[in-house]
Amino acid sequence: MKTIFSGIQPSGSLTLGNYLGALKHFVDLQADHNCYFCIVDEHAITVPQDRLKLRNNIRSLAALYLAVGIDPNQSTLFIQSEVPAHTQLGWIMQTISYIGELERMTQFKDKSSGKETVSSALLTYPPLMTADILLYNTDVVPVGEDQKQHLELTKTLAQRFNNKYNDIFTIPEISVPKVGARIMSLQEPTRKMSKSDENQKASIFILDEPKQIEKKIKSAVTDSEGIVRFDKENKPGISNLLTIHASCTGESIESLENKYEHVGYGVFKQETADVLIDLLAPIQKRHNELIQSPELDDILDHGADKAAVKANKTLAKAKKAMGLGRVKKKK
Ligand code: TYM
Repeated sequence: MKTIFSGIQPSGSLTLGNYLGALKHFVDLQADHNCYFCIVDEHAITVPQDRLKLRNNIRSLAALYLAVGIDPNQSTLFIQSEVPAHTQLGWIMQTISYIGELERMTQFKDKSSGKETVSSALLTYPPLMTADILLYNTDVVPVGEDQKQHLELTKTLAQRFNNKYNDIFTIPEISVPKVGARIMSLQEPTRKMSKSDENQKASIFILDEPKQIEKKIKSAVTDSEGIVRFDKENKPGISNLLTIHASCTGESIESLENKYEHVGYGVFKQETADVLIDLLAPIQKRHNELIQSPELDDILDHGADKAAVKANKTLAKAKKAMGLGRVKKKK
């Protein structure tokens, strides 16, 4: 059985982009893969976080993983900072990463641009991400399109380590969904929908109330042509809404174009909002039940224990290959 690893940062409330680009596919994959899903809180602190908000976001994200359908009997769900091997291998990965290649990462450029001070951890974020993946001998990493560059670097670093020291790491493959890999902002549909967008109208959050969802979809930026047609370049707003609608219902974009060909944007937007509300309502209900439950703690405790066993084995192999520490005497 192939091994899957993926992670989500608890750096804010999760968006529809996180759901359609990542979470939804995690659920589809878990039945026939050995899955590790992680709340990557050590990645979140590469930019300043409020400690209480971070705590809440971590718990909320854990509850969301379960609410969308991650089954703790099938998948291992855990918090990154509760498995110390991640930062330990992250350090090792830094030793084989070059500053130049880290500075070329688009996410680093975006997050550091215009800032007076930038943490060095923001630069060394990708080696930590590499460690997350390599610790579990991961075969496939399901992510949205924005993580492609980090995944390419992960492959490079894994290969570099194997060539330099010993053939320890599995070289992972990236898996990006055919539809929904890049959900765009509702207000600026040429930019991706993001947890950290300051304009609240730009993103649908998974935990948004039905009224908010309706309002945001209705005020989504479109164009003046008035025809529901997929054309990413000339009609990015409508194309984004078509993608959202298609990803939520499983219908093809073509059949949606036919269905809404002769109605205006108003009807199309209303029905897209209805589809979203119906999709998110049960997830929200389950999230709210789980968030305070002791069951959630049991699942995370068990997940961290299970992940640590696997991660520590891989870490020990990497340390040995590099000559770190002592050779353990056999007892
Ligand atoms: P993060 O927390 O930004 O996003 C989590 C997942 O959601 C996807 N995503 C999107 N997909 C479609 N449209 C969007 N607008 C959109 N926005 C986000 C992301 O591609 C991602 O799959 N660096 C990672 C977290 C991470 C990780 C890992 C991922 C840390 N270690 C190891 C995979 C494997 C991140 O910041 O994701």
